[in-house]
Amino acid sequence: MEETSNPRNTDVDADVWRRNEIVATYDYRQSLLSEKKDEVLANICRVVNYFREIQQIDRPRILDIGCGPGTPATLSACILDSVPMSIVVGVDSSQQMIQVAKQNLVPSYGERFDCTPGDFNREDFWAPEIDHTYDFAVSHAALHYLTDERLIPFLSEVRNHLTNKGVFVACVANRSSVDEIAKMCHIFRVQFTYNRLQHEGRAPASFEEFRRSYEDEDSRFGINWRSTNVLLEAMKAAGFRGVDIVWHLWVRSIIIGLK
Ligand SMILES: C[S@@+](CC[C@H](N)C(=O)[O-])C[C@H]1O[C@@H](n2cnc3c(N)ncnc32)[C@H](O)[C@@H]1O
Repeated sequence: MEETSNPRNTDVDADVWRRNEIVATYDYRQSLLSEKKDEVLANICRVVNYFREIQQIDRPRILDIGCGPGTPATLSACILDSVPMSIVVGVDSSQQMIQVAKQNLVPSYGERFDCTPGDFNREDFWAPEIDHTYDFAVSHAALHYLTDERLIPFLSEVRNHLTNKGVFVACVANRSSVDEIAKMCHIFRVQFTYNRLQHEGRAPASFEEFRRSYEDEDSRFGINWRSTNVLLEAMKAAGFRGVDIVWHLWVRSIIIGLK
């Protein structure tokens, strides 16, 4: 399998998703970091609704992996809003995210939403609360934290937790295996945030200085960058019969896996 490496992955902060400032400022940070996030979430929901309709599923059960804080800018909130009668089970390794997700979503959606802690890099991920079968497994901006050891085993476990016609749809960060192209996409990613900050009058004068601070901050999150080829091959190795990319923007793609 081809490898892509993260050039500045030295300062990973294992607790970064538990930090109060990261949880409390989640939607604002996403608006600075995640280009076209609304479109990505809407497209994941559109895929779910497409298969829900053709399979005539009245009350789709959906597992949201790495669900985050349940704020308006998260996938769980988008699904609850736009997939009728859906029942969403969120799972996230950050207790803080889980707690805030419950506070944000249970008052509005009641029994349609529940969530539980779980780390997909651990073999004991499938706690009794989530160890069920689902019509859909979804994920936004989380599966690039899968370790190499857990990549294929976890994808295979997800597949085993889907109903016979179950569908897996995930937006995952990725990096081209062609260095010059990877560098270009990376610069576009940094420029997006820089332009947003400029718009707010908060960008430093020097783009190069900003790029260095962005990369230092980025390294705290420890994204395990892989190419789309590696991701697609891993999905196939995990047993998905139909696998493809249906949307792509610079450093992230929506991938569908049919069980
Ligand atoms: C960028 S946020 C995405 C949140 C949400 N899916 C959304 O739509 O905005 C990444 C989430 O993945 C979670 N995460 C990171 N590593 C994880 C792991 N090993 N197992 C489960 N969740 C993880 C983080 O705690 C965080 O809530």
